[in-house]
Amino acid sequence: MAEPLRVGMIGLGTVGSGVAEILCGHAERTSGRAGREVVIRRIAIRDPSKPRECEVPDAKVTTDWREVVVADDVDVVLELIGGLSPAEEIVETALKAGKPVVTANKALLCERGDRLFPLARELGTTISFEAAVAGGCPIIAAIGQAMTGNQITSLAAIVNGTSNFILTKMLDEDTSYEDAVSEAQACGYAEADPSMDVKGIDAAQKLGLLTQLAFGRRITPDQFPVQGIDELSLMDLKFADELGYAIKLLATAKLVDGKLEMHTQPTLIRHHEPLAQVSGPYNMIELTGDAVGKTWFSAMGAGQMATASAVVADLIDVAVGRAATNFPLLNLTDQPDAFPLQAVEDIERRYYFRFNVEDRPHVIADIADILGRAEISLASVIQKEVQEPDEDSPYPIVPLVFMTHRTTEGRLRSAAKGLDQLDCVRGSWLCLPIGE
Ligand SMILES: NC(=O)c1ccc[n+]([C@@H]2O[C@H](COP(=O)([O-])OP(=O)(O)OC[C@H]3O[C@@H](n4cnc5c(N)ncnc54)[C@H](OP(=O)(O)O)[C@@H]3O)[C@@H](O)[C@H]2O)c1
Repeated sequence: MAEPLRVGMIGLGTVGSGVAEILCGHAERTSGRAGREVVIRRIAIRDPSKPRECEVPDAKVTTDWREVVVADDVDVVLELIGGLSPAEEIVETALKAGKPVVTANKALLCERGDRLFPLARELGTTISFEAAVAGGCPIIAAIGQAMTGNQITSLAAIVNGTSNFILTKMLDEDTSYEDAVSEAQACGYAEADPSMDVKGIDAAQKLGLLTQLAFGRRITPDQFPVQGIDELSLMDLKFADELGYAIKLLATAKLVDGKLEMHTQPTLIRHHEPLAQVSGPYNMIELTGDAVGKTWFSAMGAGQMATASAVVADLIDVAVGRAATNFPLLNLTDQPDAFPLQAVEDIERRYYFRFNVEDRPHVIADIADILGRAEISLASVIQKEVQEPDEDSPYPIVPLVFMTHRTTEGRLRSAAKGLDQLDCVRGSWLCLPIGE
């Protein structure tokens, strides 16, 4: 058997411990698949006094990541600390030492991939990142290898398990957004500060990475609409359900008339669609290729062992040489001419509007008038009879739902100003796209 692949691991937290569990607990299986032993030689952590979930026999442990990255007895560097700093420095130092890097850090690759990917190529080494998007779901391999006979024409993805868990919990258990977030935190699906997940940023960063691979464009979340689930209420999930839709946080990139259209937003999806049926912390990516048609990939989107499964697969790819063969062929440099980005104002879809309004004459006409002036045509209007007394108003407050025909984001934006000024509308109103 060939010489062992010696791993230098930076971070032994949730994912790191899962990787150690697979490599140490299933050493024979791993070496069989890798054609040689894969052994953890060195580990860097931050706090040596912390109790660890697992033992890694024979590994040297330090608090200085540099020692690990430059060590002569380390062939591949595993970056599992997260965040931008010092993760960026760790990856750069490893690449400059000629060592391949395996990472699960989507934030780093989304923010600094434009520098790190070309650097790895220039230095003749590799960055593997299957674990950075959708945990146990082999979506990087699917786009980068299995689908390369196609031009991907559309990618629609539920890639934030925390948001999906919260939305599922709300509807299934008739519970509020706030209670569902607390439950997600108690189950370990949401951080103490869940903003990155519930505001759609995590999903948008993952969409950025997938878009780079599928369309050869580097697009960052500040260039397309990003809306989280934090404005949704149980009422919206129920209305959508009655109308035949599920609401999911959907990250989308698709080709429309040769332009790349992107958005990450809670979206109404017809009940019969596979994406509508993804529940709890699961992820699903629907990829459409011009040859193969629609395909679906689904798995646990995060969590210790699902993520570790992807990291170990990347290590095995490094061990057998697949990473070295495949990495130079991935679509990792920005080619803006390939598919220009669709202007946000020109994105065209159908929309769901929900207002809480005073139940008095002319309200529907006032709202319809503003939408009409913006050339937004209505497909249906539903006034619910739920009545909430309001001390400040002689009128009961009722929810009002409008479904529109296809219209543009630009028209919506021009209508929004008028809708904000209507005194019959109480609180903030909600507008969500309807998937097609
Ligand atoms: N958790 C998931 O389900 C999941 C899923 C997909 C991707 N990811 C990604 O995987 C990566 C790791 O996530 P995680 O959940 O395993 O994080 P974690 O549990 O917080 O573990 C981070 C580890 O990094 C170590 N560390 C932090 N700063 C360090 C430094 N300067 N030098 C040396 N060690 C340092 C910590 O040391 P101490 O233990 O001593 O504090 C800890 O062991 C992140 O990029 C994350 O986005 C995680």
